[in-house]
Amino acid sequence: MKVTEKRDNFTSKLGVVLAAAGSAVGLGNVWRFPTEVGNNGGAAFILIYLLCVIGVGVPVMMSEFLIGRHTHANTITAFSKLAPGKWWRIEGVAGVFVAFLILSYYTVISGWTLYYLVQSLRGGLLVSQDYSAYFTAFSSDPYIPIIYAAVFMLMTHWVIVRGVQSGIERFSKIMMPMLLLIIGILVVCSFGMPGAGTGLRFLLKPDFSKVTASVVLSAMGQAFFSLSLAMGCLCTYASYFTSDTKLVKTAFSVCSIDTFVAVLSGFIIFPAVFSVPNVNPDEGPGLVFVTLPNVFNIAFHNVPVLGYAFSGMFYLLLLLAALTSAMSLHESVTAYVIESMGIPRKKASAMVSCSCMALGVLCSLSFGVLSDVTVFGLTFFGLFDFCASKIIMPAGGLVICLFAGWYLDRKLVYNELTNGGTVPFRLFRLYVFLVRYVVPVAIALIFINELFG
Ligand code: PHE
Repeated sequence: MKVTEKRDNFTSKLGVVLAAAGSAVGLGNVWRFPTEVGNNGGAAFILIYLLCVIGVGVPVMMSEFLIGRHTHANTITAFSKLAPGKWWRIEGVAGVFVAFLILSYYTVISGWTLYYLVQSLRGGLLVSQDYSAYFTAFSSDPYIPIIYAAVFMLMTHWVIVRGVQSGIERFSKIMMPMLLLIIGILVVCSFGMPGAGTGLRFLLKPDFSKVTASVVLSAMGQAFFSLSLAMGCLCTYASYFTSDTKLVKTAFSVCSIDTFVAVLSGFIIFPAVFSVPNVNPDEGPGLVFVTLPNVFNIAFHNVPVLGYAFSGMFYLLLLLAALTSAMSLHESVTAYVIESMGIPRKKASAMVSCSCMALGVLCSLSFGVLSDVTVFGLTFFGLFDFCASKIIMPAGGLVICLFAGWYLDRKLVYNELTNGGTVPFRLFRLYVFLVRYVVPVAIALIFINELFG
């Protein structure tokens, strides 16, 4: 294990919470959550999702935090330090690998967001047109999406090169408040739209007849993705926490902010969607890139300036959310490269950015010229997403819980979560029960369902 660079730390409690919340709040909240709510019957899904966050998300996040903070090392080294010579290290390897894979396709979708932002501001988006054809023409183009993805990767790189304090912490402190402000403005605007009542009823009235096993499992999968669990990201961030960071409280704050933003995104999207006739809330992944521009165009037909402002702000929100998440994915890999190869941050992050972008090019082309190239029937994009979110991620969450619940010494876990006994944690026994039994069984169920369901 080579380590030459001195390790940075986060300098303030606010920085810690905003950076970790920045990782969690991402495309998963603004784009994936409303889509899942739409597909799975509205408020009933939200209730189940909340249970998953509390029962599974919070304990897994606490476990990642304690592993990272205890070892002050990248994820792979963290597992090696806690269990020298044991196979648990594989979990660290899987985490870093999956962060790398996700970053490659996350960059492509973020590039689309950047393009839609630019088009909104230039006035090219809100003109009456077939938005589905518009989206297909753009995403299958061999050059433009790649250029936008590369610009997004450069933005991420630019932050990561600056390190933990002057990069991640500083920019999270600027971007997260901006993001929350934009959400606030958009929620107010959305409530003023004619379909607000119908949209809110859809979001707030639970219909339990729609709840099936697969809805419960989708809620759990969504919680994992949205809270950035099992990818080494939160573990890496926690390795920069200082000894007085309160892990339990931080995990609760991050989960609350993440859930709050997801629900508010629903409050923005559904009133807007229901304001326009013949548009379904269960549009699927096209919701953000096909349905919403259409909605913005129709809803603001008479006052295009407001339309530009609304859609511009919406895509800016999505971009900020994506950027703070991409930073954490990038850092998870970069920290490993710095510490394992003993090379400076500048060089390590350049290596990560370039290699990830190379994979990103494959992902982007899989919407166009490479759409016929498939592995196991999946395009590159589909394959990366499948491996990452359907296989490695749930397996990783399972291993982290088994590690914290069964392998690690109970005293070590208690000391870490309570900062050596100085911060009371009355629910410690409940935490142990959850990570030992409840979470592993829950994750095993998602896993089986995803693979064979
Ligand atoms: N949590 C992020 C989101 O909601 C995605 C992400 C997953 C980021 C895993 C980092 C690690 O979009």
